[in-house]
Order: sequence, then structure tokens, then C-alpha cells
Amino acid sequence: MSVQRLEEVRTAFLADIESAAGDADAVEQVRIRYAGRRSGLLNELTAVLRELPKEDKREYGQVLNGLKQEIEAKLQEAKKSAGTVIHAGSGKIKVTSHPTTVAVTQPEIDVTLPGLPVARGAQHPVHIVRRRIEEIFLRMGYDVEDGPEVEDDWHNFEALNIPPDHPARDDQDTFYLPGGHLLRTHTSPVQARVMERKQPPIRIIVPGRVYRRDSDLRHSPMFHQIEGLLVDEGITVAHLKATLESFLHALFSDDVEVRLRPGYFPFTEPSAEVDISCIFCDRKGCGVCSGSGWIEILGSGMVDPRVFEAVGIDSQRYTGFAFGLGLDRVAMLVYGIPDLRQLFAGDQRLTRQFQ
Ligand code: DAH
Repeated sequence: MSVQRLEEVRTAFLADIESAAGDADAVEQVRIRYAGRRSGLLNELTAVLRELPKEDKREYGQVLNGLKQEIEAKLQEAKKSAGTVIHAGSGKIKVTSHPTTVAVTQPEIDVTLPGLPVARGAQHPVHIVRRRIEEIFLRMGYDVEDGPEVEDDWHNFEALNIPPDHPARDDQDTFYLPGGHLLRTHTSPVQARVMERKQPPIRIIVPGRVYRRDSDLRHSPMFHQIEGLLVDEGITVAHLKATLESFLHALFSDDVEVRLRPGYFPFTEPSAEVDISCIFCDRKGCGVCSGSGWIEILGSGMVDPRVFEAVGIDSQRYTGFAFGLGLDRVAMLVYGIPDLRQLFAGDQRLTRQFQ
């Protein structure tokens, strides 16, 4: 009678497991019904063993053990074939889903497989140069300022002493937008914006994108500048020269010579073009410096009193200096890039080199 009961359970189990095939949830239900720790049928059948008369125990025990093993094996097999295969990293993990959790039944991670390559980014050379220059000026107590790329005529030109008929506008032809706006031709308008907003002492640098109607080996319609401005009482050309020398020594090397030549900018008076001794030939003359031994690196000067007046700063009390430099030109020099437009062509063969 009892052994017969075991046979019935066996038949019922085989039918149940077969109809649950392929469905992880159903397989789990079958497992609980037969092999569940607390109320599984196998527990019940094991309890019966203790009640049996001695002579029946042996046979019943053997059949019960066989049944347990069979159920165990069939459940394993059913779980495996109902499992979902998911890919994680380079290994495969088989999981079976459960109503509320995802049970990882068999991690099959082959640690000997090569890993998936992780793409590594690179910094753009102009970005690297900008950060280096910012760091140098931050150490000297300057703040980094920002301004709009879509500017108005007042800040880009008029406040900087460039009235509508001024010839300096010819060199800075740009892209005009409806409503009197334009794409800024330099970072200098941010000087005017900051001075309108706050009184001296002012010590700022302004990195940013600028635009002009230009395109050749050394010009691109979009390029980058860094502007500098310092305004306080008693500022002289000596402060300008010392600041630029410290900056250029920190950027290139203490060995470079710095030379100020008279120049012209409408918003500075006097103005100076600043050269460094050629870092490639040490002033002997080479292709980079066109045989002159010097490389023009920035424009600068003492802020014109008319600019102070335009933005509401007392030109009797305050003086200051300003300078502007092309970031892209510095990146070309430092990394030996022959064509400025390569910087913005988006060719990863160039940019990948700057990891
Ligand atoms: N804004 C000038 C340019 O784009 C560069 C410049 C020259 C800026 C002299 C200055 C400066 O602040 O003092 O060519």
C-alpha cells in the first residue's frame, strides 16, 4: 500500500514537471509542491517511514530514496532548460526568474576570456591649453569669467572704442544676426560687461569661442581666445610686462625671452604686440618663426580711458591693462599642428593622440 503511494506520487510528479517544462515559474511551483522544505510531499512521505512496521521499512526506504533522487534530478534539469541566458560583461550567467526576485542559479563566468575593451576618451588640445592657462592665472589671483557668444554691437565694438565707421571693424567682419546681434569677434566684450557690472579692483581672464569671416591655414571661422583684464589704482606698464612675462614663462619655459613691440588696438593706449623668442630654433630663425627668431603670441596694452568712461569707471582714479591671445595658435605651437582647421575637423586620429 505504501510503496504504491510512492508510485502514485512519482507518476503525478512526472506529469507535473512535464507540463511545467520551459516555464521557470511553473517549475518552481512544482519544486515547492514536491521538494519544498516545509510542506513538500517528500517530507510527508518520509514521515510515513517512521510509522511503518519493521518488515516494510527496508523496501519503502529504498523506493523513497530512488524517488527523491529522481525528483531532484528532474527538477535540476527542468530549471536549467527554463533558465534565461543573459550576457554580463564577457561571461554568461544563467538565471531563472522568480515572481519577485531574479535568482542566479548558475553563474557561468569564464574569467579566462579577454574582457570587452573600454573606450578611453581624450582631451582636446585646445581644452588642455585652456586649462593650463587658467591654472596659471588662478594662481595669480584672477577669476575666470564667461560671456555670451551672441553679442550686441555695443559690447563687441562701441564700448571698446570702435564706433560704426571705424576701420578696425574691417578686420573683424563677422556673422550678423537679426535684431542687431552678431557672433562676437573677440573675447574683449566680456571686459566691458564685467566693468559695467562691478567696480575695481578687477582681475579676470575670459576664455571662449569667437567668430570671424576668415578661413585659411591659420584662420578658422570659429576659434578660441583668452582675454585678460586687470584694473586697480596705480597700475602701470610695468605690471603688464611683469604679468605677461610670468605667464609666458609658466606656459612655455623660463628660458623664453619676452618682447613688447608697439602696436595698435582701439581699446588700449598705449598698445603692444607681445612676442616670445622662438621655442623651436632658440632665435636662430626657422620655418615656424619665418626666419625672424620671434613668434607673435598676444596683443595687449593699457586700457584706454575712453573704455573706462563708456562702462562707468572713473578714469582719473583707475588704470589697468588688458591682453588677448589665441588659444588655438598656442595649441598649434605646443603640439606642432600645422593647419589650424585640423583642430576642428573632428578627426579622431588627431584628437586620440592627447590621452
Ligand atoms: N581683441 C583683440 C583681438 O581679437 C586681442 C586683444 C588685443 C585683446 C589687445 C586685448 C588687448 O584685451 O588689450 O585681436
